[in-house]
Amino acid sequence: KSGELAESMGFNLFLVGGIVRDMVMRIENLDVDLVVEGDGIIFAKALAEAFGGKVSPHEKYKTAVVRLPGGRRIDLATARLEYYRMPGAFPEVEESTLKLDLYRRDFTINTMAVALNPHRFGELIDFFGAQRDIREKKIRVLHSLSFVEDPSRILRAVRFEKRFNFCLGKQTVSLISSAVQAGFLRNIPGRRIFHEMRQILQEENPVRCMDRLHELKVLEAIHPDLVFDERIRESFVSVRETLFWFRLLYTHEKVRPWFLYCLALTEPMNPETVMSIAEALGLRREDAEMLLASRERVRELMKRLASLSEILPSKAFGILEDAALEEMLYAMSRSRSATFKKIFSTYVTSWRNYRPPVSGKDLLVIGFSQNPELGRCLREIRDQGLNGEIRDFAGAMDYART
Ligand code: CTP
Repeated sequence: KSGELAESMGFNLFLVGGIVRDMVMRIENLDVDLVVEGDGIIFAKALAEAFGGKVSPHEKYKTAVVRLPGGRRIDLATARLEYYRMPGAFPEVEESTLKLDLYRRDFTINTMAVALNPHRFGELIDFFGAQRDIREKKIRVLHSLSFVEDPSRILRAVRFEKRFNFCLGKQTVSLISSAVQAGFLRNIPGRRIFHEMRQILQEENPVRCMDRLHELKVLEAIHPDLVFDERIRESFVSVRETLFWFRLLYTHEKVRPWFLYCLALTEPMNPETVMSIAEALGLRREDAEMLLASRERVRELMKRLASLSEILPSKAFGILEDAALEEMLYAMSRSRSATFKKIFSTYVTSWRNYRPPVSGKDLLVIGFSQNPELGRCLREIRDQGLNGEIRDFAGAMDYART
């Protein structure tokens, strides 16, 4: 339908980028990126009108985002009409604008397009050997200035290499090495590196990506104190295992894997180093301070747990109830003893959802007044319930009466 609409407006419309790569590789991907040969914003408005969506245009870059009623998001870009001079004495020629748009992209595997206009609907366009590179399992740049133009692509290269189990092309590796050595990573805003780093930490296996970044000396080029040594690697592996475990609970609660990995990465550092790295990555001071505060809460709760002489559920509950879920998961990943791991897992799967068999209202009925006494009694009932001493409403009321 969108192809027909484009056709009626005299535009050419293409599906591009990651979704086409993933279609060819038979991987699910729902991120729709479109390129319009014509005017992306005018087309986005027509598209939104036709399907009842909302447009957010970006006039400067001639891009737009259309949000469709079901919550689907479509990104549109404009392929501008451009001219380029062929080497030698040829006259200026008009190139396919789509081809030029694709030529500006990071790696060959991301440069395919699918035509959407009716007369060529479904035609796969592959100017730069993407299908060959997918067959050969290679991540290759399109030209030797790719990392100079955009050094954040170094991190993207590693992310795609490990995600798809591909290999970086030989030339691509040597271009990365030169760019790293030349310090190009310091030429772009830290925030862009942080964005790519966070993407890496959201991947299925960040450990392999971090190994590769370490091997390519990318981390130390970002900041001299950013390291991925054996100790941090082990923490990463445990965080990953804990996240697997948590996902299997299907609680649908949001946890940010990248945040847990940031805790692991910064654990051995002193606060000044954390702040200095945060600054290099363009993080706001408040965000870096939040990370430090989280780290402190994790340390504190582990210390308090370790000091318990007897592990009563109510005691453990009292220590864990103020920690955020992510902090708890991190502490769980860090604890060596099976007993502690068990405490964390029981807290996450059961204790934190525990509701005592009576409410404040029930206690008011039997003569409690709304004073601290009522709160204390409810807490005691909760603790006794967690410890298995109180099992039901009658037991709780008996306890309250005495
Ligand atoms: N791109 C680029 N250089 C960058 C970032 C992005 O050339 N620094 C291009 C890539 O070709 C990519 C497209 O812009 O295909 C869209 O970027 P993004 O959504 O980040 O990448 P995807 O390929 O969709 O990756 P993912 O599967 O992780 O979403």
